[in-house]
Amino acid sequence: MGASAFQLLVSLALMTLLLLLCPIFPHQAQAITRHYDFNIKMHNVRRLCHTKRIVTVNGKFPGPRILAREGDRLLVKVTNHVPNNITIHWHGIRQLRNGWADGPAYVTQCPIQTGQSYVYNFTIVGQRGTFFWHAHISWLRSTLYGPIIVLPKHNESYPFVKPYKTVPIILGEWFNADTEAIISQALLTGGGPNVSDAYTINGLPGPLYNCSAKDTFKLRVKPGKTYLLRMINAALNDELFFSIANHSLTVVDADAVYVKPFETDTILIAPGQTTNVLLRTKPKFPGAAFFMVARPYVTGLGTFDNSTVAGILEYDTSVTSKKKLPLYKPSLPPLNDTSFTVDFAKKLRSLASPQFPANVPQKVDKRFLFTVGLGTAPCDQNQTCQGPNGTKFAASVSNISFVQPTTALLQAHFTGQSRGVYSPNFPFSPLNWFNYTGNPPNNTMVSNGTKVMVLPFNSSVELVMQDTSILGAESHPLHLHGFNFFVVGQGFGNYDPNNDPKSFNLVDPVERNTVGVPSGGWVAIRFLADNPGVWFMHCHLEIHTSWGLKMAWLVLDGKLPNQKLLPPPSDLPKC
Ligand code: C2O
Repeated sequence: MGASAFQLLVSLALMTLLLLLCPIFPHQAQAITRHYDFNIKMHNVRRLCHTKRIVTVNGKFPGPRILAREGDRLLVKVTNHVPNNITIHWHGIRQLRNGWADGPAYVTQCPIQTGQSYVYNFTIVGQRGTFFWHAHISWLRSTLYGPIIVLPKHNESYPFVKPYKTVPIILGEWFNADTEAIISQALLTGGGPNVSDAYTINGLPGPLYNCSAKDTFKLRVKPGKTYLLRMINAALNDELFFSIANHSLTVVDADAVYVKPFETDTILIAPGQTTNVLLRTKPKFPGAAFFMVARPYVTGLGTFDNSTVAGILEYDTSVTSKKKLPLYKPSLPPLNDTSFTVDFAKKLRSLASPQFPANVPQKVDKRFLFTVGLGTAPCDQNQTCQGPNGTKFAASVSNISFVQPTTALLQAHFTGQSRGVYSPNFPFSPLNWFNYTGNPPNNTMVSNGTKVMVLPFNSSVELVMQDTSILGAESHPLHLHGFNFFVVGQGFGNYDPNNDPKSFNLVDPVERNTVGVPSGGWVAIRFLADNPGVWFMHCHLEIHTSWGLKMAWLVLDGKLPNQKLLPPPSDLPKC
């Protein structure tokens, strides 16, 4: 036997030994790179007796599930085969120093044009739980969305009982009409947009709508087991209550961060939020089926889709009973039940355990107060608009309605060519004080601009977001890209900087990426600006985003090499 053949044998033996040892030392399993192909294409989907041609990923609605493990790298090649411009956002994934893969159109990237492709290349660092991906341009996310499931590392387990099975439940909103036509029409006339025709559970409206019984999500379960429901609200414009008849739910995480478990019959989930809940099934076959339902929580004025989506929880039985089982329906809070939402928010607390600490910033470098809410914009000359008093609806942060640039902010920043693209002077607090939640001021007009708030690397930020009642108080689910934040306080009326901080929770506040600013109230959040780049912040009610309720943070590079924004990938789309 030659020397090289011998070496080959030895190395083969060693490799076999390593493979055999792997299950004994599972923590040695390596993070891996996972490849996904997202082909954006048109596809016919039939719901509510309407066949509609929609934009999909790989012809699937809802889109494909992404599965990964904490520490993995994802390479998602998105190829655009439709006429629309496309970008995809990985909602909740922090994208450390890597805004290039974040996705909001004209903020971190130019869109992927027809016939082009772009590889979103990112690593999931220090995060595990339920996320989702969605288009981040215009209203295309109405059909372009899907779950992202990030499992804990191989050697780590959940801080709760190991579920028997895991089920993603993604809530959505179905429109019979083309959503691109709906939003362009609304922006043209200045009025409110047409509302959806149905809510959906995993893409299915369920039996409470006409012509929809066969499109019902059914969850078949075994008695006496624990199921982990990975809830996602991918609806465009509606916060949703969700409940399962005769079953309570144990909330164990919010926005992919563990919380102190608590039991509830109903959860509230805003667009952009996710939550993991445990469902313990009945010990014995109950001889019944149970509705799971969702319908909106609504505070604003104007029309909305007040319908209810239902799915069915069915118990597996070996005795196939021919007779129809009784079907139980849950009762949900009233559509405008703000007191439920306040109680629910109070129950959400970080796990704050040694393994999963709540690293709440204890000192604050930068304090901000932003107002969020609706306002008006002038109608074009010789036109009557369909917004309030013949104006156009608008929305703003601190009365600045964000104007989308024609090139991406992050590129402008990285190449040092920000002049004419954005200005770095977003105000620390509103320029004019008024009674934010009192009678509306005489002037309801918003101003316009592309302003960013600049933060030095690693500054510790406290931001109070104050709802306004200029056109009526309304709850706004605010989403921050690039960070998780801690929700240290909230209340009703105008924020009081002297007294309200006394009751802040700096010990175990919930940590998340999307928080509801209470209708007619305020919420205070804290975060550490440790992620250099340009990060979008906006209301996750899509119509409010369209009207301008959005702004961007610019976090500067730190001194060390590992505190700097990475250079852009070579295939980054051009405008
Ligand atoms: Cu889920 Cu800026 O988005």
